[in-house]
Amino acid sequence: MKSGSALTPKVILELRQVCKDFHTRQGRLHVLDKVSLRVRRGDFLCLLGPAGCGKSTLFHICAGLEEPDSGQVLIDSQPVAGPGPDRGVVFQDGALFPWLTVRGNVEFGLTMQNVPAGERRERCDEALELVRLRKFADVNIHQLSAGMRQRAAIARAVVLQPKVLLMDEPFAALDAQTRNIMQEELQRIWAQTGTAVVFVTSNVSEAVRLGDRVAVMSFRPGRIKREVPVHRSRPRLADDPHLMEIRTFLVRDLKEDAHLAVEEELGDA
Ligand SMILES: Nc1ncnc2c1ncn2[C@@H]1O[C@H](COP(=O)(O)OP(=O)(O)OP(=O)(O)O)[C@@H](O)[C@H]1O
Ligand SMILES: [Mg+2]
Repeated sequence: MKSGSALTPKVILELRQVCKDFHTRQGRLHVLDKVSLRVRRGDFLCLLGPAGCGKSTLFHICAGLEEPDSGQVLIDSQPVAGPGPDRGVVFQDGALFPWLTVRGNVEFGLTMQNVPAGERRERCDEALELVRLRKFADVNIHQLSAGMRQRAAIARAVVLQPKVLLMDEPFAALDAQTRNIMQEELQRIWAQTGTAVVFVTSNVSEAVRLGDRVAVMSFRPGRIKREVPVHRSRPRLADDPHLMEIRTFLVRDLKEDAHLAVEEELGDA
């Protein structure tokens, strides 16, 4: 199919040849090497890679929190110049404001955009309904469980009606059961909102369960070494045999890079 055809959804987020180095006491760290990616409207892309391969760096660059050394990041064909409401972000620890209530957190971005109070409240209620936290609107963050905090973080991101939802290992700190439930919930939320999702994870099972595509990153330098499509209807079960096959392939694919990452961490590389 030709790109630009009426049947091909529009590209919402595009990375072109993105490179990033960090300068550390040990010397230059070549973290990202010519990373190119395309995310179309409605996509669910999982970015999978071993610890330390540059996933969060790539996430920060997409979010506009970090600048690439070279290459381009385009959101809806426009260069990214910093963070913006067109990209909703969810971090591993939720990064909620602990001094605000759930509603205060969810409305925060709308207040920054000078959205009038009535509309703010309405959009906040809708977002809380979506993540099933409506009853907890006036609760303080510290009263929420870890899973509920991530629900609030998702509400705070989707309330902006972003073009893409960027998530950096949002369920990594949750216990196995809560993580499983949040994976189900995210599939529902994605289906209901239709927002494109870029989901960073180092967990292979999570990547194949959630993604329509899994972009696999290599370790040092971080490159997209392949994109693996996952053709499976939703909601997907964690123990679906077809997903297990892809999982086995990806575990093997990651093994060498994961070893390199550990060796470097231990200082033997
Ligand atoms: N601001 C920084 N200055 C120097 N080095 C950095 C900086 N940010 C990240 N790094 C290094 O760059 C490499 C990639 O880090 P990054 O956090 O992007 O990896 P990651 O894949 O998200 O890892 P994890 O699985 O641990 O979350 C790591 O070696 C990290 O120590
Ligand atoms: Mg990270």
